[in-house]
Parts: sequence; C-alpha cells; structure tokens
Amino acid sequence: MTEEERLLASSEQDEDVAAANTLRPTTLAQYIGQDAVKNQLDVYITAAKKREESLDHVLLYGPPGLGKTTMALVIANEMGVHIRTTSGPAIDKPGDLVALLSELQPGDVLFIDEIHRLPKVVEEMLYSAMEDFYIDIVVGQGPAAHPVHFPLPPFTLIGATTRAGVLSAPLRDRFGISAHMAYYTTEDLAKIVTRSAAIFNLAIDPDGIKEIALRSRGTPRIANRLLKRVRDFADVADLETADAELVDTALTALQVDNRGLDTIDRKILRLMIDQYNGGPVGLSTIAANIGEETATIEEVYEPYLLQIGFIQRTPRGRTVTREGYAHMGRTYPESSNH
Ligand SMILES: Nc1ncnc2c1ncn2[C@@H]1O[C@H](COP(=O)(O)OP(=O)(O)O)[C@@H](O)[C@H]1O
Ligand SMILES: [Mg+2]
Repeated sequence: MTEEERLLASSEQDEDVAAANTLRPTTLAQYIGQDAVKNQLDVYITAAKKREESLDHVLLYGPPGLGKTTMALVIANEMGVHIRTTSGPAIDKPGDLVALLSELQPGDVLFIDEIHRLPKVVEEMLYSAMEDFYIDIVVGQGPAAHPVHFPLPPFTLIGATTRAGVLSAPLRDRFGISAHMAYYTTEDLAKIVTRSAAIFNLAIDPDGIKEIALRSRGTPRIANRLLKRVRDFADVADLETADAELVDTALTALQVDNRGLDTIDRKILRLMIDQYNGGPVGLSTIAANIGEETATIEEVYEPYLLQIGFIQRTPRGRTVTREGYAHMGRTYPESSNH
C-alpha cells in the first residue's frame, strides 16, 4: 500500500478497502470516463505545476460510488504531493482541524470527504485557511486567553460531497474549481469492468461485461461489486469464462433487475404506484414508508431513478413516469393528475 492508500483506509469503512484500492486508477489517463471533469482538471493541474503553485481548491460533488475519493487521490498523485484524508464528521472540534493543517507540507492536499457534515465552527475556521492560508486560534483560557495568528503553507483543499446543495455559500465560493461527477455511460462502465476483471484475473466475455455495465446504475462502485459476485458464481460453477447468462444468474440472485434496480428502488416505485397512485409524493413520506433515511433516498436512490426517467420531480413531490410504470409492469393511469 502507498502512503495515500493507508491514509484513505482510515476513513473509508463502508467497503472492502483493500479490494477498492487495488481497483483504483492512479492517474488521469487511467481514470475512465468523467471526461469533462478530467479535461478541466488536466488544464488546472498542468498550469499549477508550470507555475510551481499549489492547485486551487477543488469541490467534487455527485452521488456515492462515482469516483470522488479516487479522483482526489489521482489529483494528489498528478500534482506529486502528499494527501491527508479525513471526513467532515471526523473533525468535530477546531483543534482537530488545526492538527491536520499543521501537518501539511507546501502544496499538499487535504481531502475532506462528506464536507457538508463539517461542524459550523470548523467550517468557519476553514474560510481564512482556504483564502489566505492562515488560521487565528485562541490559546489559553479565561483572562490568559489570547489569539494566535497561525500561518499555513499553501495547500489544496479537496472537498467531496453527495449534497452540494446544502453547502453554505461562503464555503462553496472558496472552491476555485467545482466539478460535478455524472453517472457513467454503459461504454465507460464496460471499460471499468474490463479493467477490474483483468485485475481480478477473471475471464469474462464481452456480453457478460456489457450485462454488468447495463445493470450497475451508472456507478463504478456497483459495477465492481457486481463483478465480484459474478466471479463467485463463476468459481462455483467451474466456468472458464463468465458469460451473459452467468451474469444474469448472479445478478438475478442478488435481486438486481435488468435496469440495475435493486429491491429498494423497486419498493420505492411500487409504493408510489400502489399507495399514492403514482404521486406526487414527498421524499420524507417515501422514506418513512419504506424505512430508510430521507437523505439516503435523496442522495442514493432518487438521483438514479430521475436519471433513467422513471420518476420526475414536481413542486408538489415526486411522480412515477410512464416508463417507470412500464418497468414495474403496471398500467399508466391516463387520467391521473401527473
Ligand atoms: N473512473 C473510474 N475508473 C475506474 N474505476 C473507478 C472509477 N471511478 C471509481 N472507480 C472505482 O469505483 C470505486 C468507488 O469509487 P470512489 O472513488 O470510492 O467513489 P466515491 O468517493 O465517489 O464514493 C473505487 O473502488 C474505484 O476503484
Ligand atoms: Mg468516497
């Protein structure tokens, strides 16, 4: 493991970190898809290196699993600097931030995942750190308390969030570079699956790759997870080469349907159709009915259902589209108030 990966390992608990790290691309050239983001970063990284300056602060936003953490590592690698990784909820007092900032070398990257969850006092300290590379801290207590001006080396803050909309304007405005990570095309996912299969030493034919790509909700993390389960099925079946049929068997067993929807996606659609006549229905109502957090519905499930056009946002709530009805095998109510 590289130093970057060790640092990363301390903050990512929700997946098999070792496996994720072996699958992570390390350069912009290896990073598949997200061309708009890559092209703009390439210019800014090249320019910053030419001027021997630190890269401007970068905000990466978009749904989970699209490669934000990976991109932060790639940026640090391309800049040739160290990366220090943490997350919003992990920095619960100003002292934690001071400790992180004081360890930075000139040009280093501080990566704050889930930056929308930073406590307000910490966020406010970041303003001067980002803008002018200093922080003012109060040292001592009571009558002995006095402010200390603490200069910092120039550094790059990379923030990642699934919810750009909830970032405060002062914080958002301090990122010179802001990049929206989009869902991946089937072609790009197929390239990612091909690359991962090679790393796993798994033989899989082009139809099998395409099937995984089609059923990964536009998300590399999901593509890699599905690929691992396909590998299990291939091992058990003693198949030399995984094909589309095996992929279908594996993914059907995982209850991932032919558009990549899982049980929760289908629960959401069924609830909206059967109990709310297709909507409009509010997110919190959906969340309460299916026993998930409203934020999870909003950040994980809704964006993809919107993307593939199965639901729509209206001022009065979410509605299921004609395509959503068709996917669920239900008849679209022609006279509804959609
Ligand atoms: N562009 C990409 N090319 C190849 N693999 C990728 C790419 N983006 C993400 N991945 C893979 O998907 C997984 C999830 O990416 P990650 O950066 O952790 O997403 P996020 O931080 O946005 O939740 C990683 O294990 C990585 O290997
Ligand atoms: Mg991440």
